[in-house]
Amino acid sequence: MSFYQDRILPHLTHLAMRQRILRPYRERVVAGAAGRVLEIGIGSGVNLPLYSRALREVVGLEPSPRLLSMAERGAERADLPVRLLEGSAESIPLDDASVDTVIMTWTLCSIPDAGRALAEVRRVLRPGGRLLFVEHGEAPDAWIRWWQDRLTPMTKRFVGGCHLGRPIRNLIERGGFRIEHLATGYLKGRNPTSYMFEGRARPL
Ligand SMILES: C[S@@+](CC[C@H](N)C(=O)[O-])C[C@H]1O[C@@H](n2cnc3c(N)ncnc32)[C@H](O)[C@@H]1O
Repeated sequence: MSFYQDRILPHLTHLAMRQRILRPYRERVVAGAAGRVLEIGIGSGVNLPLYSRALREVVGLEPSPRLLSMAERGAERADLPVRLLEGSAESIPLDDASVDTVIMTWTLCSIPDAGRALAEVRRVLRPGGRLLFVEHGEAPDAWIRWWQDRLTPMTKRFVGGCHLGRPIRNLIERGGFRIEHLATGYLKGRNPTSYMFEGRARPL
């Protein structure tokens, strides 16, 4: 891992992800969590203060050791059981059907094999469990999609593997989920990172 990836990128990720404008999305998504929760790509733990104390446990999965150590501070302050695991969504170190809710906030863009990760999410979710998500992805405007395609080689390299134009709805449906609710729209202004997909889905 390069100095940039190990030392600089985690701090840039933290600064980008704690923007106030993202908070209403986080609040809505996290509010739906119930029972035993798995947050995929927990990053620096920005969602941790938003979880209800009534939850049984929050398990945070994250491949970056540096982000994980930032999340540890949030886990210590949280008023509920939090367990942090170093690992990747393509191979989730949890038993089958052991989780009630999976949370993903702006994570699917960065996972190298999103299809495999969603298959793993299905495996660990109990029947009737839910995937709650907010992601940025493929925009409806052709000119924005043009920019998403042009910029993605750069963001993959310098912005933590981020794919700007992933077709989030299709990915989740192809992953074997039924989408129960989906709200889409630009965050503010039209740009290659601002088209959001917020929703919930259940394994088929
Ligand atoms: C844009 S950040 C979002 C962080 C966090 N979800 C949040 O809302 O603040 C993307 C996150 O996905 C994580 N990530 C990248 N590849 C991953 C993988 N294969 N499995 C799980 N998480 C991954 C990154 O390390 C990073 O924490």
